[in-house]
Order: sequence, then C-alpha cells, then structure tokens
Amino acid sequence: MAAQIIDGKAIAADLRARVAGEVERVKRDHGLTPGLAVVLVGNDPASEVYVRSKHTQTQAAGMASFEHKLPADVSQDALLALIGKLNRDPAVHGILVQLPLPKGLVTEAIVNAIDPAKDVDGLHPHNAGRLAGGLSALSPCTPLGCIILSKTVHASLEGMNAVVIGRSNLVGRPLVQLLLNENATVTIAHSRSRNLPEITARADLVYAAVGRPEMVKRDWIKPGATVIDVGINRIPTAEGKTRLVGDVAFAEVSEVAGAITPVPGGVGPMTVTCLLVNTLRAACAIAGLPAPAV
Ligand code: GUN
Repeated sequence: MAAQIIDGKAIAADLRARVAGEVERVKRDHGLTPGLAVVLVGNDPASEVYVRSKHTQTQAAGMASFEHKLPADVSQDALLALIGKLNRDPAVHGILVQLPLPKGLVTEAIVNAIDPAKDVDGLHPHNAGRLAGGLSALSPCTPLGCIILSKTVHASLEGMNAVVIGRSNLVGRPLVQLLLNENATVTIAHSRSRNLPEITARADLVYAAVGRPEMVKRDWIKPGATVIDVGINRIPTAEGKTRLVGDVAFAEVSEVAGAITPVPGGVGPMTVTCLLVNTLRAACAIAGLPAPAV
C-alpha cells in the first residue's frame, strides 16, 4: 500500500489561518500587534529567499514585520548594537537573525545577545535549557513543525519509538526534547551511528535531518512507519539542471511507509509558519496575556 502523503503545504496554510485569527483577536481585544524583526547579514541568495518569504507571511498574518539588512562586512559590535536596540523596542516581540552568518561574526555571541523572551528561533541557551528541562520555552521552528505534522497522523505520540537522525542545534537536538515532552521513546542517531538501518527499522516514527540526499532507503523503514523528511538537498539532474530532494529516497520509501512528507511541500512550509506561531506566543507572553490558542 502506498503511504499517506503528509501535505505540509495545506497543514501550514490551515495553521497560518488560525494564527491570523488569533492576531486579529489580540489586536481587537488588547491593542496588541505582534511584531517580528528579521536580521539578514550579507547577500546569500538562499537566505534572501527565506527572509522575503518570512516578511510576506508575517504581514499576511496581520503582524508587523521589520527587516534589517546589513552588509557582509558589518562588525560584531554593530550587529550587537542592533540586537540591543531590537531587545528594547516595544513594537518588536520576536527577533530572528538569519543563519548562517558570514565569516568573521561569532554566531554564539550574537544568538546569546537576543532577549530570551524574543528568541523566536528558540536557540538561546535559556530556551534550549528550559526545553531540555521539560519547561515551557520558545522552541525552534523546524522541530515544532515536525511535531505538528506527526500529530496529523497520530493523535498521540506517547509510547511510540521515534528515531531522530541528526543532532544539530537547529533541528535534531530540540526535536528530541519535543518528542520526549510528547512521551515518545527517543533514539538519537547521527552520521557516526553504527548500523543505522537496524536502528531505524525498529522505529514507528523516523525523522531524517542529516543533510544527505536520499540516504534513508526502503529497507530502513518498518512497514507502516511515519517518515518525516527534514532534508533539503539540491542535486544535479541528467539534463544539467538541479532537483530538490530530501534525506529520504521518497519513491521507494513511500511504498513501505504508512505516512511520509514530500520534499518540497512537507516540513519546509511548516518552518516559517511556526515562526509566526512563536512570534504570536512571544507577544502574548511579553504583554502578560494568556497563551494563544494555536
Ligand atoms: N537558516 C536556516 N534555517 C534557519 C532557522 O530556522 N533560523 C535561522 N535563524 N536561520 C536559519
């Protein structure tokens, strides 16, 4: 039986509509307009595309969007000064510094300078630590999206065997913590793990986030398992063009999985949408309002 295709595009659109509804409500009832500031340093074309999409979607949800573009040779001090200004700006409830930063800038120091209450990327050690401690926290957007997609297939993840392949700060590690908070049984695998296919073959839920094109094969997957593909890899085609593929060999794995996310159109659309969710949550928390219903 062919797998159910998890339509990230449609699920993200539905979530965006609910975020827009909540934004309208906090504006009307509390005079609060959630605001997101995105900082882009340099002119990496992929980052420019992401930032434009964040700007458009933030405005479409009824929030204020503040874009700050800085040259690649901006000094660490100048970038820290901008973050300090955004930390103090009452119209800004979320701050995202687009990564990766150009060489010469110290990412850790920049991320650590963001007010944890406005850290909508969930990368500040304050939020990462709270998440690891099972406390409420702003959580990284891509892992949040992965959990939401998983829950469209399984109402509860409790007791399920989940395998996360990848241990990055942006995806793998926070995803493990979110899965633990859902009471899943979690295994963390990575590029150095031995017998990876044996590990994944036991899983009810497989999350592939290693950045290796089509690495996860059909015989790695237990029949009926749910497969969430976080990979975005551009590979050359025979015609001399490029093609977008995930970390999962989609065609063959979809013949055995119970449910699977496509690339593109799976996890990708959820990431920016979860950024909107985090900005709304941050705005409500800063204003002392109850958490929004999204
Ligand atoms: N670059 C690619 N993904 C992300 C993300 O989720 N957050 C930030 N800040 N930069 C990114």
